[in-house]
Amino acid sequence: MKEERIEKMNPDCYHIPVMLDECLVGLDIKPDGVYVDLTYGGGGHSREIVKRLSTSGHLYGFDQDLDAMKGAMKDDERFTFVRSNFRYIKNWMQYYGIEKVDGILADLGVSSHHLDEAQRGFSFRYDAPLDMRMNQAGKLSAKDIIAKYTEEQLADILYYYGELKQSRRIASTIVKARQAKDILTTGQLAEVVQPLMGYDREKKDLAKLFQALRIEVNGEMKVLRQMLANATDILAPGGRLVVMTYHSLEDRIVKNHIKGTNKTDNDGTDAQALIFGRPKMSLKQVNKNVTTASAEELTRNPRSRSAKLRIAEKI
Ligand SMILES: C[S@@+](CC[C@H](N)C(=O)[O-])C[C@H]1O[C@@H](n2cnc3c(N)ncnc32)[C@H](O)[C@@H]1O
Repeated sequence: MKEERIEKMNPDCYHIPVMLDECLVGLDIKPDGVYVDLTYGGGGHSREIVKRLSTSGHLYGFDQDLDAMKGAMKDDERFTFVRSNFRYIKNWMQYYGIEKVDGILADLGVSSHHLDEAQRGFSFRYDAPLDMRMNQAGKLSAKDIIAKYTEEQLADILYYYGELKQSRRIASTIVKARQAKDILTTGQLAEVVQPLMGYDREKKDLAKLFQALRIEVNGEMKVLRQMLANATDILAPGGRLVVMTYHSLEDRIVKNHIKGTNKTDNDGTDAQALIFGRPKMSLKQVNKNVTTASAEELTRNPRSRSAKLRIAEKI
């Protein structure tokens, strides 16, 4: 068991980087520049960014997960690991005395390590405690949501974050089941909802249900909006923002942010837009449509299938 864990901490097993070349090209790396990888994970992207830096360049790698920190690159003076939620990018850069950065990468969501590590409770492939916190010190777990949210709250997150058509029926089934017996594990939850899921789409629906809970546990949508606003502020003119998403909700937020049409980026934007028209755009799209993984990559990495890459440049 111990050996298995160490094996998974090995960067090659932790996570296979998605669209690696496309991200590197998107960042347009200058050897002396300052870069930020907001989602270090197994460091697949970070290691390749650092290789392209001179001794004057620097990369800051963020991750809120303790496991990512444990496996992070050490002994390279061009790299600093920051164990934090990426929403605080601006505060951390101020802390390090950095005013502007030349490029920021965000490869959103969970890593393969999260899904493979049964005890983290992200996957219905194993029976494990319902956890799903990316930050092990986070206060809210999936177990709390299943135990405490009202039927309506549950239905809403299943509908909005999981895009599950049967959200109301599933929520009502969960509430009935928890009145009879606490739902504490991924296996118990899967067993409760399974009768509602058609034979042919059972795995897909379970994946959507687990995705919805994970997004709620980690506050992913709110954090993404905050991160995009702060990351854009801290980019130098000509600096690149490269964001990879894995579901349509995230992609819509990123797309709207790049086009300058997100409503909650910063105070007053909406009111100004209503009175004076759209505020001045601070980003321009680099790739006109989203970039997706090549056919060759799809044959070796199933995770790449749902990935969408957007690249923007600070004006
Ligand atoms: C898809 S993985 C990144 C994989 C990485 N690019 C690689 O090639 O190994 C996403 C990582 O981002 C981290 N993460 C997700 N949301 C975060 C947030 N709000 N703040 C900090 N880290 C976050 C997760 O813990 C996870 O390790």
